[in-house]
Amino acid sequence: MALGLPLLLVVVVVAASSRAGLADPAPAAVSALPGLPVAGLAVGFYNASCPEVEDLVLAEMRAIVAKDRTLGPALLRFMFHDCLVRGCDASIMLESRSKKGEQDAVPSYGLRGYEEVERIKAKVEEACPLTVSCADIIALAARDAVYLSNGPRYAVETGRRDGKVSAKSDADNDLPPPFSNIVDLKTYFSVKGLGWKDLVVLSGSHTIGSAQCSSFASDRLYNYSGRGVQDPSLNKTFAAGLREACEAGRENDTTPVYMDSTTPYDFDLGYYRDVLSNTSLFLSDKALMDDRWTRTYVERMAAAASPDEFFDDYAVAMTNMGRLEVLTGDNGEIRKTCTSYVD
Ligand code: HEM
Repeated sequence: MALGLPLLLVVVVVAASSRAGLADPAPAAVSALPGLPVAGLAVGFYNASCPEVEDLVLAEMRAIVAKDRTLGPALLRFMFHDCLVRGCDASIMLESRSKKGEQDAVPSYGLRGYEEVERIKAKVEEACPLTVSCADIIALAARDAVYLSNGPRYAVETGRRDGKVSAKSDADNDLPPPFSNIVDLKTYFSVKGLGWKDLVVLSGSHTIGSAQCSSFASDRLYNYSGRGVQDPSLNKTFAAGLREACEAGRENDTTPVYMDSTTPYDFDLGYYRDVLSNTSLFLSDKALMDDRWTRTYVERMAAAASPDEFFDDYAVAMTNMGRLEVLTGDNGEIRKTCTSYVD
């Protein structure tokens, strides 16, 4: 799998924002995919066995987000946590009674969407029993979370199968913490076969959703570099607002703060503008300014009049992430429910 290779083809994406009132656009054409294909994965893998799967997932996602819009961003993050740990195999759905599974790892703190993935899976099971993997449902739900936030409806390869192993240590080791510097971030991504472009483009996911104060308050507001001070690079007005939301000294503060304070539910270029103007939440967001290539990308996206380039890049980067260490063919399994106990 050569994920860092130059793109062979350009992905066609359709911006949802221009489609208000029209039927959902069909995802991009089957042949228009980046990089080298992975055997066993294909856009439309379920065309014969479960032709309605993408409609079913979108309908459920619509209902889920209509009831609680915070779940859209949560389900986008869900795919990242699935794919970076043992590949996109839905192992994040496996539960451990002895608390040694991925769900019990530090980076899984605050992760939401478990019940929603199960809810979508149940709908899909009704129509197509034992056919569609949970890993594919997670990838489709993430795409629809983007689409329902006025982002692109890119084509999603399917054909993944589900893993049977879940280990806390894998999640602790493989998911970058929010205080990562640029060298750490590039390392976390490169060991998985993802490059700097995937890093800067996928980080753009932080244009929707929120983070809990405990994920950033110490690093940015109260104990920057362990020195008991505020990060001097943080925009002062922005920081003052954050200090009101996240009071000093609160242990495990779960107060949610929008990551893109201007348009928290719009999949747009707001994230890059935030990074450029020192109004992003995590050190890992700010760190994108510390590498020549990622900085140039942030600057270009922050200044861009249209999100088209970001949307095209996002489709490619999500496809790259969606190909990580996948189980296909006879490997893995298709379970009736996504949740299952490993011990
Ligand atoms: C580059 C390294 C990354 C780091 C260090 C990071 C870290 C985090 C952290 C700490 C949170 C907040 C969790 C909380 O406080 O509840 C978060 C939220 C989020 N992340 Fe990331 N993330 C990274 C990359 C990604 C990627 C690649 C995606 C998607 C493809 C993503 C999507 C999201 C989304 C959508 C949220 C908001 C979730 C919500 O509102 O519930 N992140 N991230």
